[in-house]
Amino acid sequence: MIRLISARIDSSALRANLVELKRRAGGARVIAVTKANAYGHGLVAVAMSLNAADAFGVARIEEAATLRAAGIEQPIVVLEGVFNAGQLAEAARLQLELVVHEPEQIALLEEFRGTYRFGLWLKVDTGMNRLGFRPEAFAAAWARLKALPTPPQILRVMTHLACADESGSARNDEQLQRVTPLVRALDAELSIANSAALLAMPATHAQWVRPGLALYGVSPFVGQEGAALGLKPVMTLMSTVLAVRKVRSGEYVGYGASWSAKRDSLVAIVAGGYGDGLLRSIPSGAPIMIGGRTAPIVGRVSMDMIAVDVTDLPPVQPGDKAQLWGGALPVERLAAAAGTIPYELLCGVSQRVPIELV
Ligand SMILES: Cc1ncc(COP(=O)(O)O)c(C=O)c1O
Repeated sequence: MIRLISARIDSSALRANLVELKRRAGGARVIAVTKANAYGHGLVAVAMSLNAADAFGVARIEEAATLRAAGIEQPIVVLEGVFNAGQLAEAARLQLELVVHEPEQIALLEEFRGTYRFGLWLKVDTGMNRLGFRPEAFAAAWARLKALPTPPQILRVMTHLACADESGSARNDEQLQRVTPLVRALDAELSIANSAALLAMPATHAQWVRPGLALYGVSPFVGQEGAALGLKPVMTLMSTVLAVRKVRSGEYVGYGASWSAKRDSLVAIVAGGYGDGLLRSIPSGAPIMIGGRTAPIVGRVSMDMIAVDVTDLPPVQPGDKAQLWGGALPVERLAAAAGTIPYELLCGVSQRVPIELV
């Protein structure tokens, strides 16, 4: 079957990135973060490729269930934890590890009468003010988890940095200073680092790191691409030229007539629009690749198509392959052109885009 658009997932690049991140994390174990359909890369395809991950991190229990149904046996950490007794029973059945960030979650564990001994991560809010117990409430929460009727298999500590992509920010030091005394007193294992912290702040490595974006070969730092960090892009979003048309100088292209030709132009219509995850905010001038050369998108992104000015390219024909990102056109570049972050573009790849593991 001919596919107009597909996301090619390079499993060897994925594995190489894991090796590189393990090396950079200097012995810390890796929770490979695969939430949001593995940042659009396909949850099961990614997990199957990552035998060497020490654990997987997902946001929600449904994602963990998908991994278990696919036969994934590594530990799975549910980063948002569970919210009712039914979910807790399901988490026990699936043998999951849970993040605990709310008093109600401790109450659920206190009422749990099953035999499964959870691996638990008590989350401390060291400043981000998203999830977690404040440092002053931490010791009491820890004591309650220690005293559970079904004792945890292991109790560890987690926190998350608000500004890890700004490695010079004083906020990172403040957050570290809030968590360090807590874990010192408990002699517990700790996880702090996302991709940015793993790559730029060795002081955050602790016993477990939690990279997401970098695993997919993409840089978490504005103005720096994954390749410069020794990472290989995993997703190539491939598409196809549907039509090529001559547009006369002064004529316009697409909805709202937002772009008009300044010269007689050749415009390729390429499959891929906001129905596939290409943000409508991607402006005229943002790059895509056809036949190994970059060319600017022109006019508005529509649901199924974009238009590309190929006047300066060697002849382009319907059926030619186009690359929306990946390979020589890193997703970081399109994200910068669209005024967003690569996370948003990757996670946005929609369900109708087939994933091809290569
Ligand atoms: C708690 C937690 N840990 C780790 C990650 C992975 O972050 P990144 O993709 O920046 O490595 C995330 C993602 O947002 C997260 O929410």
